[in-house]
Amino acid sequence: MRVRDKTVYNPRIMSIFVDSKRNVFHLQTPTSSYVMRVERDRYLAHVGWFARVAEWRGSNDLIGVDRGFSPNPDYDDRTFSLDTFPQEYPSAGRGDFRSPAIEVSFEDGTTALDLWYEGYRVLAGKPALSGLPATYCERVDEVDTLEIDLRDPVSGLLVTLSYSVWRDRDAISRSVRATNGGSAPITIRKILSVSLDFADSSYSLLHLSGAHCREREAWFRPLAPGSQGVESRRGASSGQQNPFIVLVAREADGVSRAGETSGEVFGFSLVYSGNFVAAVEVDPFDCARVSMGLSPVNFSWFLKSGETFQAPEVAMVRSGSGLGAMSRTYHDLYRERLCRGSFRDRVRPVLVNNWEATYFNFDEKKLLALAAKAKEADLDLFVLDDGWFGARDDDKTSLGDWYVDRRKLPGGLASLADGVRSLGLDFGLWVEPEMISERSELYRDHPDWALRAPGREPVRGRDQLVLDLSRVDVQEYLIGVLKAAFFEAKVAYVKWDMNRHIVETFSALARPETQGEISHRYMLGLYRVLEEVTASFPNVLFESCSGGGGRFDPGMLYYMPQTWTSDNTDAIARVAIQAGTSLAYPASSMACHVSAVPNHQLGRVTSLATRGNVAMAGAFGYELDLTKLTDDEIAEIRGQVARYKSIRETVLFGDLYRLRDPWDDQKFSAWMNVSKDRRSAVVTLAWTFPQPNPSVMRLRLAGLDPALSYEMEGEGKAFLGDELMNAGLRLRQGDARNDTVQIVLRAR
Ligand code: DGJ
Repeated sequence: MRVRDKTVYNPRIMSIFVDSKRNVFHLQTPTSSYVMRVERDRYLAHVGWFARVAEWRGSNDLIGVDRGFSPNPDYDDRTFSLDTFPQEYPSAGRGDFRSPAIEVSFEDGTTALDLWYEGYRVLAGKPALSGLPATYCERVDEVDTLEIDLRDPVSGLLVTLSYSVWRDRDAISRSVRATNGGSAPITIRKILSVSLDFADSSYSLLHLSGAHCREREAWFRPLAPGSQGVESRRGASSGQQNPFIVLVAREADGVSRAGETSGEVFGFSLVYSGNFVAAVEVDPFDCARVSMGLSPVNFSWFLKSGETFQAPEVAMVRSGSGLGAMSRTYHDLYRERLCRGSFRDRVRPVLVNNWEATYFNFDEKKLLALAAKAKEADLDLFVLDDGWFGARDDDKTSLGDWYVDRRKLPGGLASLADGVRSLGLDFGLWVEPEMISERSELYRDHPDWALRAPGREPVRGRDQLVLDLSRVDVQEYLIGVLKAAFFEAKVAYVKWDMNRHIVETFSALARPETQGEISHRYMLGLYRVLEEVTASFPNVLFESCSGGGGRFDPGMLYYMPQTWTSDNTDAIARVAIQAGTSLAYPASSMACHVSAVPNHQLGRVTSLATRGNVAMAGAFGYELDLTKLTDDEIAEIRGQVARYKSIRETVLFGDLYRLRDPWDDQKFSAWMNVSKDRRSAVVTLAWTFPQPNPSVMRLRLAGLDPALSYEMEGEGKAFLGDELMNAGLRLRQGDARNDTVQIVLRAR
């Protein structure tokens, strides 16, 4: 099948060019070109993704080489082999021994699959993905979409590759769907969203790995022959691995790599909150194949004739000027075209959360005293965390019983919420809807609503089981009970928590051949519940959480524009966690709180100033017993809140420049938030490893307008932007009592 049209004549399509003479698809973002070509009228090849060219004529076209042991599907040509050919979407069992993007099995038990080019469509705008979160456009002239059909000539399986190319962003949103165009059922065993072959392997792989309380540490490792990557099989994207990887170009010396401001980097970010795989395979000829999508572990999908399976989206970003520009592209895309709802564009309230203040041990009086202190410090919102429902005095009971515990709150949620509101604060509420405690009325009434392997003792985590969200009756129950609680308390904010990983993804309702679908169906069910609940409360701010930042991913951000970044609230540890998070996610998505000292996770003592400075990098709040603070401390907090309110537009909606990264420097980190009009900026610097007798250091700023004069607030000094960026500031290092500096700059 040949590519039909010479060019796309629709004048509204600006970023997709089709050249029928060369059988080429050329996608252009503002600074990059992504080129595919149909070879031998059937194989869709990935030619390259590189800095933008006006027209691709084939200077780097593919070269066939006769390689020993590589099978040849073309009888007459030993130089052609799928094993060395960069297929845009490689299938299994026909000669490519590298990692396939798709694996299926047919009714007769065979698995060999050909995917041949069949045709394409170009659409203005970007279609939604059925049942899944995805980036979206508000106007059709923001983005153009190319859909390419590949078909198996034997079974009729149709695979449609979709590329939405953003006109003003260096991003391509890519996804895949498979339709059974034959008459017999097909079982999908693996279906990735992206497979992308790079012509060489001179990159480092950057991934965000960690654990509870140390999420999203940045790891770099040079690519080596064979497979390398990260995967979550935990039923959540997880704090252990984040669904985000970057190929970072290595310099000619083979050791240095692209940095914050220079060099070529390629980011891949999966818009999904469940099991995933993100890997790179380097083949014997130094080609690097990037794979990203649903994890094939514990996954299969039974696709009947005529049915379609939609795989999640990957947002791909290329930057020719380092990690900083890549991050800013992700930040803008996710803040403006992934997050939704009224809080997408609104500043976030400054909140106090009672978790680290009281844990489970509270009553109405104690909570109202905390709220009164919060009001004294000019906070906006009081959040009631875990422990308000059922008979929950610890974490062993009551999940699922979403009605108030009258022993603690005799007047119910409404009375507490009214009390908080009468103090002048909004009221917010914590829930953990996906879980069920065995000691709960819900479990007594519906034991089959928990995911479990029949006949086996269930595996508990934090003493709780997981609800089977693949079931429509469970989804309906949650939608009803959550809406009732939120209406009753007239909430302004909801924290949606999830505190264990999932091991037994077996549903009491599923047939044996569809049990492999349950982990993905769980996610689809969760997304449906989230859609219904968040749509019913358009003016409520939703924050997601999973034992801290254990499900900090783009899928969740589609429904809830901010995420609790980590249960680790130690200010110095937070510097690295927030910097790692900022590689992919915008400041507006990171919830950051000031907590008590000694810190509850680490025992470290940091100053209130430092805790405030670090937490102001995102959506700001407090999580400590304010009633125990002195008047001076409350006055200091009032000052912090006033400063945050004066800078929050810049922090939440501006550009982030990482000046010094924790993965490059153990001693200090620094970052800047600059407003889009470059008239205001906030510089924050943290000495993460205070030393006695330290050196004096120079910090060069970034992102300012070179010609504008900026006043340093509270210092009575003003400098031109070029001086601040080129000459920089000279700073004396503080000690452990004075280990951060925050400078607010305003153009005069
Ligand atoms: C885990 C969350 O990360 C905490 O902030 C808190 O909400 C607890 N769960 C409550 O159980």
